[in-house]
Amino acid sequence: MSPEVEFDRVAPTYDETRRPPSETELDSLVQLLSGCRSLVDGGVGTGRFAAPLHARGFEVLGVDLSVAMMRRAGTKGIIALVRGDLRRLPLRDDAVDAAFTAHVLQLVAEPAAVLRELGRVARHKVVVLLPERPSRGPGDARVEFYRRYRALAQELGYSLPERGPRFWHTFDDLRAIAPPSEVRVVEGQPPALSEEAIRRRAEAGGWFVRGSIPPEVHQEILRRLGTENVPDRSWWKGPRLERFIVWEPSALREMG
Ligand SMILES: C[S@@+](CC[C@H](N)C(=O)[O-])C[C@H]1O[C@@H](n2cnc3c(N)ncnc32)[C@H](O)[C@@H]1O
Repeated sequence: MSPEVEFDRVAPTYDETRRPPSETELDSLVQLLSGCRSLVDGGVGTGRFAAPLHARGFEVLGVDLSVAMMRRAGTKGIIALVRGDLRRLPLRDDAVDAAFTAHVLQLVAEPAAVLRELGRVARHKVVVLLPERPSRGPGDARVEFYRRYRALAQELGYSLPERGPRFWHTFDDLRAIAPPSEVRVVEGQPPALSEEAIRRRAEAGGWFVRGSIPPEVHQEILRRLGTENVPDRSWWKGPRLERFIVWEPSALREMG
């Protein structure tokens, strides 16, 4: 499933099932963007970051493949919204002071192509906010959940990739693409999600169904999982690590 279709599906429940940016994150971001006024938010989504940045005086242009996600950003005062692919931004060179993207690069198939584009359109800075998974090892509740989810999907005739539904690129992957000029680790707050929100997020599919599972089959898998003793979904509540990664645009333009 393409990202726009996937996120079109998630758009109705996105804001209710995601944590809004913390003050720590926003303060760090504003500091890192000091001296910049115009910015493109690549993969703006529902404007989770764009709206508070706009409220702090930035001129934000949102770009996303999912119109349904951007429609929600439009209700939060973000009026400059363009449908576009981050691998080929519909912007000229040096169009904005800074390019920002949050919770996108871990998902995309070609992070290098996206970084190169962000570097092309930004005059002063490229800032990426990357969430990190604390662990993918044995005993990780998410790994176990996915393992059982995948097995049940298989029983119902649907095959999912072994490694997981996302690429989930890490900081090391991005650092290997081009050396950043600054990195700031932020301890994210535990998600402010109610049990109901966690349930709705799981039901919406979100991260673990990379498209190939129709919604009714997904519901059936969840129903079967509910009767098993799989680890609960408490990982949603745990602390998470996030990194702001900053590049000089020139470092990204010089990539091969
Ligand atoms: C996890 S959401 C993050 C949204 C927002 N930045 C936030 O932090 O809430 C990822 C967003 O990236 C968009 N996206 C994924 N791949 C894209 C691409 N190649 N070009 C443009 N947008 C893309 C999706 O449509 C989705 O809105």
